[in-house]
Amino acid sequence: MGKWRRNIFKRISSILLLPLSKWYMSTERTATVEAITVTIKAGVFHPTLFFSTKFLLGWLKKQALQNLSVIELGAGSGLLSVYAAKKGAIVTASDISETACANVQENAWKHDVKIAVIRSDLFTDIPWQYFDVIIINPPYYPKMPSNESEYAWFCGEDFEYFQKLFFQMKRFMNAASKAIMVLSEDCNIAIIQSLAIQHGFYWQMIEQKRMLFEENYLFEIKPGNVHEQ
Ligand SMILES: C[S@@+](CC[C@H](N)C(=O)[O-])C[C@H]1O[C@@H](n2cnc3c(N)ncnc32)[C@H](O)[C@@H]1O
Repeated sequence: MGKWRRNIFKRISSILLLPLSKWYMSTERTATVEAITVTIKAGVFHPTLFFSTKFLLGWLKKQALQNLSVIELGAGSGLLSVYAAKKGAIVTASDISETACANVQENAWKHDVKIAVIRSDLFTDIPWQYFDVIIINPPYYPKMPSNESEYAWFCGEDFEYFQKLFFQMKRFMNAASKAIMVLSEDCNIAIIQSLAIQHGFYWQMIEQKRMLFEENYLFEIKPGNVHEQ
């Protein structure tokens, strides 16, 4: 697709996509990926309406997760948590949204997998432990969320979500831990990367995929030396 056509599509989608998806997500839905069907409660992030959750799932699919401790930070419907638990990981799923936490619990019961569901603002109420893998599909639009469901999109006007995340996360990681974060070109990757580096994280892009007219990236974030992309 030509660059100008791609830019037109991007412009149209940036105007239409968010309101349309909010409307679609205002009703309870279901979604099926890798033979896992999850319920998505009204107001909870829909894991197949966008590419981000599937991109992370593709990464999880390639990993040996048996007995690894995995946290899905901001788990939404919990699709990734259910998938990781089915692969033998010891899974914690957290979310700031009470509805999302209830949603993850319901999907865990439905699939008969054990997931520790914790309502928490990032790591604030997560009992201290080291996680082998931290999975993050973050909100990234710079605006304050004004209700529970907007936490899926907005990270605060000054990227407060990321400031707090990088401040808290190191305590939950040892030398072997890694966080995998999905981002799209639609967000300010430079600011997020610089916040990570300021907090002493190693930051590396590990996968890149174009979905329709948008580039998506997976970043590996590790405690340790600063590493430019
Ligand atoms: C883009 S959605 C991703 C949901 C799910 N991980 C997925 O990939 O389908 C972001 C999720 O992060 C949650 N969230 C936003 N801010 C949070 C915070 N400060 N602490 C915990 N969860 C948060 C939202 O409620 C939302 O469920």
